[in-house]
Amino acid sequence: MSAKIRIRITDELEEINNLNNALFPGAALGPLLDSSTWWIAEYDAEGVWTACGYAGAELTNEGQYCFLSRAGVLRMARGRGLQKRLIYVREAWARKHGATHAWTYTHASNVPSMRSLIRCGYVPYLTTPWQVEGVQWVYFKKALSHGPTVMGPIFHRTE
Ligand SMILES: CC(C)(COP(=O)(O)OP(=O)(O)OC[C@H]1O[C@@H](n2cnc3c(N)ncnc32)[C@H](O)[C@@H]1OP(=O)(O)O)[C@@H](O)C(=O)NCCC(=O)NCCS
Repeated sequence: MSAKIRIRITDELEEINNLNNALFPGAALGPLLDSSTWWIAEYDAEGVWTACGYAGAELTNEGQYCFLSRAGVLRMARGRGLQKRLIYVREAWARKHGATHAWTYTHASNVPSMRSLIRCGYVPYLTTPWQVEGVQWVYFKKALSHGPTVMGPIFHRTE
């Protein structure tokens, strides 16, 4: 696989849905497909840009916060820190839209995802638990600006 990877915003929802179904079997995007803004990561396959990852984000709490809604990297493109790049592009978008904080959650067993978030400056926090029975989720947040460091309650339920 070529080392050259580009990330671009996309409205090709069918492609995003296909990537999600390949990377998250059994976890359909549902309403997130329409409510999130999407980015696609592509590698240069001998002159043809070919998908290798995707990520979504949406503004919550009247634009104050940015929810990192989903991210995935195909196996062949893993190990290059692509999730971190996908986090940074979404943060840049969120800052442009005036968001002060970003937040997300991962499955408690998802070490690569948690490591990427921590490397990008996210910290875990406690919130009203939206727990699927028997499954633990870890919530992460990050201040995007030099504004208030305290993040109020999040009341946007996505799934
Ligand atoms: C999570 C995911 C996006 C990470 O892909 P990636 O960006 O290529 O991740 P990397 O290989 O760069 O690894 C990220 C970090 O985890 C570490 N890591 C990777 N695999 C690991 C493992 N099996 N055990 C421990 N650490 C691991 C890496 O060393 C790296 O750490 P660092 O940032 O401290 O250097 C990818 O594994 C994936 O798509 N998984 C399925 C979908 C998913 O879980 N999405 C995220 C939830 S929304």
